[in-house]
Amino acid sequence: MNPQDRVEFLRNEVTRHIDLYFAQNAPEISDSEYDRLFQELLDLEKQFPDLVTPDSPTHRIGAPPTKGFESHKHQIPMLSLDNAFSLDELNSFDERLHRALELDGDLEYFLELKYDGLSLSLTYEDSVLKTAATRGDGREGEVVTANAKTVRGIPLRLKHPIPGTFEVRGEVLMYKDVFEKLNAERAERGEQVFANPRNAAAGGMRQLDSRLTAARKLTFMAYSQGVGESIASSQSDLLQKLRELGFQSSEISSRCGGIQEVLRQIERIQSLRDTLPFGIDGVVVKLNEFALQRQAGMTTRGPRWAIAYKFAAEQAFTRLNSIFSQVGRTGVVTPVADLEPVVVGGVTVTRATLHNYEDLERRNVREGDTVIVQRAGDVIPEVVGAVLEKRPSGSVEPNPPKNCPECDSPLVKDAGGVFLRCPNKACPAQISAKIIHFASRLAMDIEGLGEKQVQRFLELELIRDVASIYSLHLRSKDLIELDRMGEQSVANLLQAIEGSKSRPLDRFLFALGIRFVGDRTARDLARTFRNIGEFRKANYEALIAVPDIGPRTASEIEQWLEDPANQSLIDGLLGAGVAPAEPDSPRGDYFAGQIIVFTGKLERFSRDAAEEMVISLGGKAAGSVSKNTTLVVAGPGAGSKLAKAQELNIPVMDEEQFLGSLPEGLQLG
Ligand code: IVH
Repeated sequence: MNPQDRVEFLRNEVTRHIDLYFAQNAPEISDSEYDRLFQELLDLEKQFPDLVTPDSPTHRIGAPPTKGFESHKHQIPMLSLDNAFSLDELNSFDERLHRALELDGDLEYFLELKYDGLSLSLTYEDSVLKTAATRGDGREGEVVTANAKTVRGIPLRLKHPIPGTFEVRGEVLMYKDVFEKLNAERAERGEQVFANPRNAAAGGMRQLDSRLTAARKLTFMAYSQGVGESIASSQSDLLQKLRELGFQSSEISSRCGGIQEVLRQIERIQSLRDTLPFGIDGVVVKLNEFALQRQAGMTTRGPRWAIAYKFAAEQAFTRLNSIFSQVGRTGVVTPVADLEPVVVGGVTVTRATLHNYEDLERRNVREGDTVIVQRAGDVIPEVVGAVLEKRPSGSVEPNPPKNCPECDSPLVKDAGGVFLRCPNKACPAQISAKIIHFASRLAMDIEGLGEKQVQRFLELELIRDVASIYSLHLRSKDLIELDRMGEQSVANLLQAIEGSKSRPLDRFLFALGIRFVGDRTARDLARTFRNIGEFRKANYEALIAVPDIGPRTASEIEQWLEDPANQSLIDGLLGAGVAPAEPDSPRGDYFAGQIIVFTGKLERFSRDAAEEMVISLGGKAAGSVSKNTTLVVAGPGAGSKLAKAQELNIPVMDEEQFLGSLPEGLQLG
């Protein structure tokens, strides 16, 4: 084959495999085979520079730096959207449209995710990407074509020919897992971390060296058409056609038969928010039919036919008043920020974690700083970083403590060197944290024994350690005499303590407060060892064989079990009558030998129910994908686990397929 034909062949092959891998999740060749094709194309293009075309996939790795960005005038301005912050405002939007269109009856809407990134305009000439431009001020943006060519989901050539000029608009964003990795690497190198994926994506698109953009692994989601003949008659039709041309958009979008359905779908999307692999800051509600859109018209600000419904922001700025140290149940000393109260994600936050002292130093946060606070879902609020321009003069770097703030013992550095730890097992802060954890909802769930009560009982020496909870009944007279603890509430508390004795084994293992053993790991341990006698004999080999338990956790548990104080804690609890309930035995062997991972949002059944079923039928349910995984069941919003499964060629099913694969008589949901 002559070089020209070979280059053309390789260009098409590589483009096809990129599409199969990223857009269709169905790779046909291994990563290394792909790398070989790509390298051959690179080599040939280097040897015959004349053969390089603007749509060559080799542009995806970036090109050497340019001096600056040229400006680009948008033929059709890139406007913004009106915002709605309440469901009432959405109802008003719907009423306004009814009036403007002089229509009764339900209007059809298209509900789309509001991607949290930066908007980008892509102009194709005769199907080949010519110009990519940022939004800029809406009328004029910057040309970032070389950068855009490195972004996933931007076809360099449309999959079907479209003659003439054709403009597509959408959002460039960074996936959450890519962001976490990028920030971890930056922190490792002592560089300032990004506050959020949007900033990292925006910074990525403005790199003069497109190889740096490529390294940010950005993704493009298409949402509208600009210049060019319209290819669709409605928004739902447009997204479908854009997919056929090689663009991506989220599958979570939906057509809604009226505003009531929009409101219901918004609730669903809100509940999916944390499971999505990328950030969204709301949803966009669009009138679906283009004919009706044209009739509704525009204002100077933006279209009348669309509105953005904004979700509660997950980040906010506030003042960090002071940094104090908190001692956890395993003795780890954590810096905590005391904040000027601020609403984040719909909740008022006054404290946020600063993780550990090394991290605090990397994040360069000081008392008095204006800081970015972040809270997503149920996660503990954290301080992301400081706004350095607003740093008050004379502020000082925080010093890690040398001694325990509670018992004054000299602190020691952990083996990993990251955490500071109070080595004193009798440290009152550790004891109270252990007891609070033991009684907490996901552990032994002892109602009436919360943080305040534990502190009070410790001060009054009614309890002294975890096991002593089970002797509280001997002190019922003292308890009744305490203010605010009438006879009834004492009786309730003692009953709750008694009731906790027969909690399932997994809760008991979680309650022990072993480092790295969260409720999920505790469940895995309980399923494997089945009773406390077997668990307490476990060694490293037995522990590492448990699905989902890695070397760090296995050795932490082994060390914990080797400590005589912990063995006598277990003895004390068993002696006091605690008898953890064994998990149910398998009822069959349908899933024997299988290790199944459920990921994404499951809508037809709960993850717990599915995992229970797999286990009760002899299989294993794991939380992470490895080469041993036999099946991944993925719902909407599945991200890195699904990607990993594809990388490892592990079979993937959606919920429907999984339900369909079950033998008759087996039901879920
Ligand atoms: S449609 C006339 N759809 O939100 C503007 N915009 O506040 C029509 N955005 O500048 C835009 N996701 O950057 C549209 N699914 C989506 C979007 C979306 C994010 C951004 C876009 C726009 C801003 C408007």
